[in-house]
Amino acid sequence: MERVRTQPQPQATVPAVPRVFSGIQPTGLIHLGNYVGALRQWVELQRQYESYFCIVDLHAITVPYEPAELQQRILEAAAANLAAGIDPERSVLFVQSHVPEHTELMWLLNTVTPVGQLERMTQYKEKARRSKHGVMAGLLNYPVLQAADVLLYKATLVPVGEDQVQHIELMRDIAERFNKTFGETFPLPEARLSKGARIMALNDPTKKMSKSVPGSYIALTEDPDEIRRKVRAAVTDPGPPAQGARLEDASPGVANLFTLLEVFAPEAYPRFAEAYTDGTIRYSELKQVLAEALVEALAPIRERYRRLVSRPDQVWDLLRHGAERARMVAQATMEEVRRRMGLRGA
Ligand code: TYM
Repeated sequence: MERVRTQPQPQATVPAVPRVFSGIQPTGLIHLGNYVGALRQWVELQRQYESYFCIVDLHAITVPYEPAELQQRILEAAAANLAAGIDPERSVLFVQSHVPEHTELMWLLNTVTPVGQLERMTQYKEKARRSKHGVMAGLLNYPVLQAADVLLYKATLVPVGEDQVQHIELMRDIAERFNKTFGETFPLPEARLSKGARIMALNDPTKKMSKSVPGSYIALTEDPDEIRRKVRAAVTDPGPPAQGARLEDASPGVANLFTLLEVFAPEAYPRFAEAYTDGTIRYSELKQVLAEALVEALAPIRERYRRLVSRPDQVWDLLRHGAERARMVAQATMEEVRRRMGLRGA
């Protein structure tokens, strides 16, 4: 009997083990919010999964910036990642613009991304409101590039802070629409949040800790006296709460310090939590314990960071090597995407 010949169909190559992808913008010092919300998770996840961590310079240029400083900012961001524990033997650490496939995929994904959805992104709306010289298309398309970042590696685990969740939901939609239109290609990524996914500004705990708000953050490389000073100045309440108060109802400033305490001094947390419900808590004491725990946790990071920025050639070599490794995966995905979209013969 004659066999029926079927046309070979391009098969989606889904990675056998889940991949991790995340990114950070090289826009100034990396702070405690970045560390607690994102970086700390990266360091954990790299032990278990194939991981890609990216310094997203092409995202950083969507707001006004100083071109002469960009290379130094990239170097500093890479050094902070390494100092915090990203291991270049385990993870692929690289610069986004060194892998041109990110921008190519972004263009292709633009064709399956509704403008209305981009206009509804909270971060876009905030940045557009602040922009003094009109809104550039790059700002609107920012989340499409972010979708390309993750989908290029077919990553499914995306460890981020809470402010990125909306962007990850959007990238799932983009991936789904692509799959429906051109055939199953991309697995759907998921945000992975940890405790402290939203660290608040120390000087105004109703807003998130952010590099763009001076006084709001503690840099990962801050010196001990600055750490102590900033923690001491953190906004709390004028006095302890009434007896029987619940920690869940604490003011944003107090809640924020408790979150940090739980991460950096877990052994002291129960004692202060109890003092809070008893109405006997002294915030100055809590701050002192927290400040010392932060000084201790950040000291080795600061030391490693100093050593790394004093050897820029070594860091750049490492980043170049990272880009080579990333490109192998990126090129394979692009081959598949181009074929599916009819941009190449089968
Ligand atoms: P970026 O550079 O603003 O921040 C890097 C990471 O730090 C987290 N983060 C926080 N977490 C808790 N509390 C805070 N106060 C706080 N501030 C920042 C962010 O959530 C983020 O995880 N668009 C991204 C970069 C990006 C990306 C990607 C992320 C580009 N492509 C692909 C994941 C996957 C950003 O602006 O991060």
